[in-house]
Formats: sequence, C-alpha cells, structure tokens
Amino acid sequence: MEKICYTAFVAAFLIGGQALAADVQKLPQPDLTQPLPALMELLNARQSVRSFNKDKPIDEQTLSEILWTAFGVNKHGKRTIATARNEQNMKVFVLREDGIWFYNAADNQLEKISEENAIPFTAEKQAFVNNAPLHLIYTSSDMHLGHNHAGSAYQNVYLYATAKGLATVIRGLVNFEELHRALKLNKDEFVIVHQPIGYAE
Ligand SMILES: Cc1cc2nc3c(=O)[nH]c(=O)nc-3n(C[C@H](O)[C@H](O)[C@H](O)COP(=O)(O)O)c2cc1C
Repeated sequence: MEKICYTAFVAAFLIGGQALAADVQKLPQPDLTQPLPALMELLNARQSVRSFNKDKPIDEQTLSEILWTAFGVNKHGKRTIATARNEQNMKVFVLREDGIWFYNAADNQLEKISEENAIPFTAEKQAFVNNAPLHLIYTSSDMHLGHNHAGSAYQNVYLYATAKGLATVIRGLVNFEELHRALKLNKDEFVIVHQPIGYAE
C-alpha cells in the first residue's frame, strides 16, 4: 500500500473564497482492478447500518477508495457520478477527530481547512454517529440540482461499503448552521447530507 505522507503545506489555497494555510494528506491511488461482488449482489445487500466500532479505524487505501467512489475522477476525466452540465461543483468534506478536510479529487488528496472536530455537529440527534471514524459531508451551491449529485455519490458509497463490509447510513439530522460555519462555506453554499462510515460493532 502506498504510504501516506503528511506534509506541511506552506502555500495558501483557495476554498470557499478564503485563502487558508493547510496540511495536505496525499491519498494512495484507488485500486480499480480489485475483485468485488457483482452489482446486483451489492444492490440486494445494501442497507443502512447504525452501529460503528469506534476502535476500528479505516485505513488510507480504503479511505481513498471511498472518496473516489463518491466523487473521484474517472478514466474519462469526469466524475464517478453524473453532474448537471458536467459542472462537477459538489464539494465533499471529510470530518475526522483530527479536523475538517476538503477532498481534492483532481490531485487525489485531502486538504485540511480546520483543526476543529466537527463530528459532534453531525451527531446531536443520534449519538451512535460519534463512534464512526470517518464522516463525509456533501455540499453544493446549486439549489436546484445539488441534491441529485449528493444522492448519486452517497449511493456509490453505500455500494462500496457493502462490498467492503463497512457500515454506513446517509443522514439529514445534522446541525446545518454549525456545519456551514465549521466548513467555512460561502453564503450561497449549503450542507446537503452527512454520511458516517466505519465498521459495525
Ligand atoms: C435523504 C435521506 C436522509 C436520511 N436521514 C437519516 C437520518 O438523519 N438518520 C438516520 O438514521 N437515517 C437517515 N436516513 C436513512 C433512512 O432512514 C433509510 O435509508 C431508510 O430507513 C431505509 O433503510 P435502508 O437504507 O436500510 O434501505 C436518510 C435517508 C435519506 C435518503
């Protein structure tokens, strides 16, 4: 497995209209040739799971593949999901205890935008969520079509999770205001849904 390197990223990058210093976590290349159960089998087995083992983390290879499945760049130079007018304007954020990260699919890396642990803002109404080691937040600025993009992405992740024995559930019960602030979203951007991922207890 390719080794993850954490490098201090001294340059500033632009996200949400704000220049921020950040750390970068390079991701290993997703393994696109691994044998997985067939699509019909996965669709038949897919379900929401609301139990997470807080002591069983997700390794970097799996993390990379989850993110690629959700919104990675495919062999056509497009995304793993269809997007309206090919605008590809959804943003996927990763929440972990070590902070908030933006998924830069083109560079296959995570870019830290905050040290804040924002997981509690996803879990106010369902405490089991706190046990998941990985949390995806789907955001958009497209009021009309952004939800469709999130739906495509979270279904991809459901299917990958099913194939890999991971637990996940898509969720709308989050503190939208606090997440909007913590993710440093622009006024025209909004949080759509939250997807915790981990291994079931
Ligand atoms: C847009 C959306 C929002 C959801 N929000 C929540 C949620 O906040 N909490 C939760 O436990 N499940 C949530 N769910 C999961 C549904 O409860 C679940 O998909 C449904 O009960 C069917 O179960 P299944 O996914 O196992 O087929 C949500 C599902 C969707 C599609």
